[in-house]
Amino acid sequence: MTEKFRSLTETLILHHSLSSEDYEYLLANRSEESAALLAKEAVRVRKEMYGNTVYIRGLIEISNICRNDCLYCGIRKSNLKCKRYRLMPEEILACAEEGYALGFRTFVLQGGEDAFYTDDILCDLIGRIRERYPECAVTLSLGERSTESFLRLYEAGAERYLLRHETADEGHYGQLHPPEMSFRNRMKCLYALKEIGYQTGCGFMVGSPFQTYKTLAEDLKFIETFRPDMCGIGPFIPHKDTPFGKGKGTSEKVELTCYLLSIIRLIHPPVLLPATTALSTLHPQGREKGILAGANVVMPNLSPQSVRAKYELYDHKLFSGEESAEEIENLRQRMKRIGYEIVTDRGDRA
Ligand code: 5AD
Repeated sequence: MTEKFRSLTETLILHHSLSSEDYEYLLANRSEESAALLAKEAVRVRKEMYGNTVYIRGLIEISNICRNDCLYCGIRKSNLKCKRYRLMPEEILACAEEGYALGFRTFVLQGGEDAFYTDDILCDLIGRIRERYPECAVTLSLGERSTESFLRLYEAGAERYLLRHETADEGHYGQLHPPEMSFRNRMKCLYALKEIGYQTGCGFMVGSPFQTYKTLAEDLKFIETFRPDMCGIGPFIPHKDTPFGKGKGTSEKVELTCYLLSIIRLIHPPVLLPATTALSTLHPQGREKGILAGANVVMPNLSPQSVRAKYELYDHKLFSGEESAEEIENLRQRMKRIGYEIVTDRGDRA
């Protein structure tokens, strides 16, 4: 490890900020030793903020119908092979009920941009969840909507919103998305969510096509300035029925994702950072690796078994797992083995 690397790490720890060039330097000069240093510091910082707790969120994938055509995504509208489904409000409530019984106190409603879910339908649903489970938080992850819509959903009781920015480089954004989608609107949505008062999550894929250390440095700079409450990052994994279907998810992406988790923890200590499904899809110990790099959230799937395989954002997405009582106990044990404790309270940002 170079002297420069050490000194940049110290600056990052002290000031939570580096120039884009210096972020690039950290990314380009990775080694096992430097990754270990960043992870150690990230874990120290995260323990100061959150002790050894890991928050658990119940993910309900409500629909894979999407009006968008993102080039990387398995549920893009042009993928005619995708078997579409949509959960009805009653089915979503049943998932929440099951999740509640398992100890979940946050429900994440995630889905494609499906026009079925009008503000009226969502407000009613959010209201019913909040009424039944007043101590639970509702997180939405339903893509881009109008500011008025975000406001109505917030007023109905949704307090958190996840909307990955995907890349903070406008040119790169254009390479990943069809012309009708815009970086500006993405950013507009993110700032509107924050302004309304949502705990707001952004995030990006690691190893996406055309990504460079320069664009990743921009992502880090964006996180530094936007200061999201949450940040979801995971490796890009090709989906065979998309334009970016060739290529493989590689172990390098696992390492780079963990490396970035550490840097993000140091940039913004209180951030809620999930060890994502994509990370555990590429590596059997993905969740553990993420936590040991500075993540502090896991998001098991609560969607009904019958639809799970269909929410296929990328090839071989894990869709069985930690959703039964037995499996959650298993996850708890796995976390315990590396020194962490799953907690079921709402887990707002420290
Ligand atoms: N690999 C990894 N992540 C993906 N996403 C979409 N497609 C892929 C893929 N092929 C992520 C995007 C999106 C979230 C729902 O899933 O970042 O925001």
